Amino acid sequence: MESPNNSVINFMRNRRSVPAKLMVGPGPDSDQLRTILEIASRVPDHGKLAPWRFIRYGKQKSINIGEKILSRAKEIAIVEGRVLSEDEMEIERNRFLRTPVVVAVVSCAQLHPKIPQWEQILSCGAVAMNLLIGANAHGYDAQWLTEWYAYDEALNTELGLKTGERFAGFVHIGTRQNPKGERSRPELDDIYSTLEN
Ligand SMILES: Cc1cc2nc3c(=O)[nH]c(=O)nc-3n(C[C@H](O)[C@H](O)[C@H](O)COP(=O)(O)O)c2cc1C
Repeated sequence: MESPNNSVINFMRNRRSVPAKLMVGPGPDSDQLRTILEIASRVPDHGKLAPWRFIRYGKQKSINIGEKILSRAKEIAIVEGRVLSEDEMEIERNRFLRTPVVVAVVSCAQLHPKIPQWEQILSCGAVAMNLLIGANAHGYDAQWLTEWYAYDEALNTELGLKTGERFAGFVHIGTRQNPKGERSRPELDDIYSTLEN
């Protein structure tokens, strides 16, 4: 057994997300992001299918996406019989502009003769988690979000999704403006048991 790596233990015990709306710059540069994504893709993967991929959204694309998300949000609001306020419109327009870097984690899980789709989806979740850890390890803050537009089929193509794929989420990466807070965590004894016999 190797000796414990106390700095990693400390890092993992204190790891947490920061809300995207509280992040500003800087974010990782292209080389750092490549390293972060290589770290993210080092996950358990039954059958070595790599049933996931990443999409990074550039600045102009993020502006275009914001306009598309806004017009879709307006359509939905009309169907629901309401009108978006100026604040709500601003939120929709800026969804992909909140942080310097936004990366989609895409699940490409498919039916496979030996590897259940469930396991492919779990592997994709591990990728998204590793992406948070990789970003944090580089000194950046990060948050994993889906929001309503991850599930809106009318936006799939604009967001880069191909047929049969799903978004595990969008990982926002940047730097927090304020000290990190903490959130409540489950009590270990509520989620941990031992079966003896
Ligand atoms: C798949 C997934 C989707 C999420 N989508 C959202 C979201 O749309 N909006 C939101 O406020 N939080 C969302 N969250 C929660 C945030 O990631 C939140 O920052 C996180 O739970 C904080 O936990 P941590 O500090 O342990 O990282 C999502 C979490 C997961 C796992």
